[in-house]
Amino acid sequence: MTGLPMVVPEPGLPERVTIWEVGPRDGLQNEQALVPVEVKEELVRRLVAAGLPVVEATSFVHPRWVPQLADAEELMTRLGPDGVALPVLVPNERGLDRALALGLRHVAIFGSATETFAQRNLNRSVEEQFAMFEPVVTRARAAGLDVRAYVSMCFGDPWEGAVPIDQVVRVGVRLLDLGASQLSLGDTIGVATAGHVGALVAAFGAAGIGPDRLALHFHDTYGQALANVQAGLRAGVTTYDASAGGLGGCPYAASATGNLATEDLVWLLTGLGIEHGVDLDALVATSTWLAGHLGRPSPSAVVRALG
Ligand code: HMG
Ligand code: MG
Repeated sequence: MTGLPMVVPEPGLPERVTIWEVGPRDGLQNEQALVPVEVKEELVRRLVAAGLPVVEATSFVHPRWVPQLADAEELMTRLGPDGVALPVLVPNERGLDRALALGLRHVAIFGSATETFAQRNLNRSVEEQFAMFEPVVTRARAAGLDVRAYVSMCFGDPWEGAVPIDQVVRVGVRLLDLGASQLSLGDTIGVATAGHVGALVAAFGAAGIGPDRLALHFHDTYGQALANVQAGLRAGVTTYDASAGGLGGCPYAASATGNLATEDLVWLLTGLGIEHGVDLDALVATSTWLAGHLGRPSPSAVVRALG
């Protein structure tokens, strides 16, 4: 039997939250086993049917860098008109050209707050990444596409350690200044804690970027993701990235594990009386089905409790 938490709102929190589902992209990019494209298509369709308002579908990156997503064209072609509005990652103009050729309408660039990760993930320095992204955002906006920007390693970096808040704000502001509509702050290796989240959101506020322009992207390596969401809610952020069943990681970030599980996020939001529009039963059934394909159980506490 699927339960739901008792609803007890906390005063002062947002009334509604957008869950940005990243499982098909952030989750599957990190799977050892290659997942057949028809399974990916069914995953995306089931997530949309479960009520997730945004489902990030795949990445148009170099197939040698992320072989798990080498079937991006095939997946988006199979999804056809149903996939056109779903966001996809594009690091450079070559990636944008591939997305435009399919008529896609929503892309995301992904920058790094640290030098080491910029090199490892993009083969660029922090400064060089802006030159790579600038024509992507300009051309995408001119073609009427929506553009999200990610910034990774916002709370800590496996090679460089602590990442100063002002360094993250500088990179984030520059990515937004290129013309992105939203900035997703990535805790790529899951080291953030609640006070740090509040301080980073406040620092963006002091730089003129309000919580309405921010999203929070937590990985759950140290079990802090839900506490960090609570801190984000108290700071007024209304978009949270999560991956069905807690899939995920980043192939170019040692020690990155799964994203915050969407089911765990839905449980928290439901209990707080915050609207999200997601059918938890349908979502748990989807993650249980996918776990069967991947050959291992979901790490999500809510999927384990209800699945
Ligand atoms: P590069 O090797 O410097 O590329 O890689 P290049 O510009 O020098 O081009 C070399 C060759 O690659 C050329 O082909 C290009 O056409 C081709 P050649 O002329 O030699 O035959 N090429 C491409 N082919 C297909 N699609 C493309 C593309 N670009 C170039 N888009 C590059 C630079 C950015 C491409 C590479 O570093 C790359 O693909 N990186 C992606 C890494 C990645 O996907 N990481 C995971 C996503 S980020 C993440 O997970 C974090 C996040 O979740 C937030 C968080 O948790 O923090 C978002
Ligand atoms: Mg990530």
